[in-house]
Amino acid sequence: MSVPPGTDRATFTPNGETTTAPTPTTRTTAPRSTQAVHAGESRYRAHDSLTVPIVQTSVYTFRNTGALLDYVDEKMFWEEPEREDYGRYGNPTVRAAEAKLAALEGAQDAMLVSSGMAAVTATLLLLVKSGDHLVLTNDCYHSTLEFCRNFLPRYGVEATIVPCGDYEAMEAAIRPNTRLLYSESPTNPFMRCLDFPRLVEIARRHNVKTVIDTTFATPMNLRALEYGVDIVIHSVTKYLAGHNDVMAGVVIGSFEEITPLRKAQGTLGCIVDPHAAYLILRGLKTLALRMERHNANGLAVARFLESHPKVRRVWYPGLESHPDYAVATATQQGYSGVVSFEIDGDAERTYRFIDALQIPTIGPSLGGVESLISPLALIGYAEVSPEECARLGISESLIRFCTGIEETEDLLADVAQAFDQI
Ligand SMILES: Cc1ncc(COP(=O)(O)O)c(C=O)c1O
Repeated sequence: MSVPPGTDRATFTPNGETTTAPTPTTRTTAPRSTQAVHAGESRYRAHDSLTVPIVQTSVYTFRNTGALLDYVDEKMFWEEPEREDYGRYGNPTVRAAEAKLAALEGAQDAMLVSSGMAAVTATLLLLVKSGDHLVLTNDCYHSTLEFCRNFLPRYGVEATIVPCGDYEAMEAAIRPNTRLLYSESPTNPFMRCLDFPRLVEIARRHNVKTVIDTTFATPMNLRALEYGVDIVIHSVTKYLAGHNDVMAGVVIGSFEEITPLRKAQGTLGCIVDPHAAYLILRGLKTLALRMERHNANGLAVARFLESHPKVRRVWYPGLESHPDYAVATATQQGYSGVVSFEIDGDAERTYRFIDALQIPTIGPSLGGVESLISPLALIGYAEVSPEECARLGISESLIRFCTGIEETEDLLADVAQAFDQI
């Protein structure tokens, strides 16, 4: 999206409105299917194609030197010209997917990258420099924690990890050199959900940025930017693309936040390829429908598990027993399809339960149409020491059930028959 000269990039939106809305304290209206199908798309496309074409090229040519001179002028003046020159700096299919993602999140801009972790690492690398400090919550994705613990210190950046949901600890950890607060919502695997008005109030009072990974929510359940969060990150690999067939990540925010990141992307090289962008666009068209079923399946499975005598504990923010039931209900449109629970028994009983299931297959991801099940001590935490697992609450009987879009009754019947076998 080109920004007219002289415009404040932070407040420019395509329809000319400013984005200084007050921070809501309760949930706002999520985009629905019409937006998922049409948002961010121009009405008429190249070659009158209904779908966005896959522009599979690494090079964009110029008809003559006059066209090249116009392009150079435009680039100097507009910053982001309407055409591309080289694949690492932009691609029309990728830009179309970015426009849809920005529109669904209610944001000015979005930048697609090669994976969710590329979104996390590129954002953090750009926002901090040697001597800086950041605060992140302990229930973040393990590779994000690993990056902050083991990579950022090599570049002179320190991270303090605080318990998710402990806002006093979060505020106490902020130092004069703290640049940002980083968290997920809901978190993986315990589905902790942030109190956004409280988090943003703390961040603004201390003049630090907020960066939140809302992969588990998607904009259908939560639009964190509306609460005043500065940058939203998603692993697009999960619900957004939705079919367990593509890897990508996205960083979403104002032009002011995303423009420097986009410039860095050209240097870092963490781009997404045009075919992946096409699959993302296609997946996004059904996001509203898919999330309705994921939300319904997650809630039904969570309720069933909570009432089952062979289950020790369930973590799902749509259950009143979850510590964040109130904040999740106030801020989210749904609770997602991910349910974590502990079988009442040892590892052997847990594996027998998992092996007896007929619908979900064993695998590490989530958010696709197929249900997946993970014994977390073996998937995700296999290389983590037993002491650290104990500290994080990852037991041998902890299971993450990522419900797909199968019929709710079929999933419940499958879980019931698996319990009958243990
Ligand atoms: C919350 C969250 N963020 C980021 C990632 C990383 O995403 P990717 O696997 O696309 O790199 C994951 C992966 O599971 C995740 O669960």
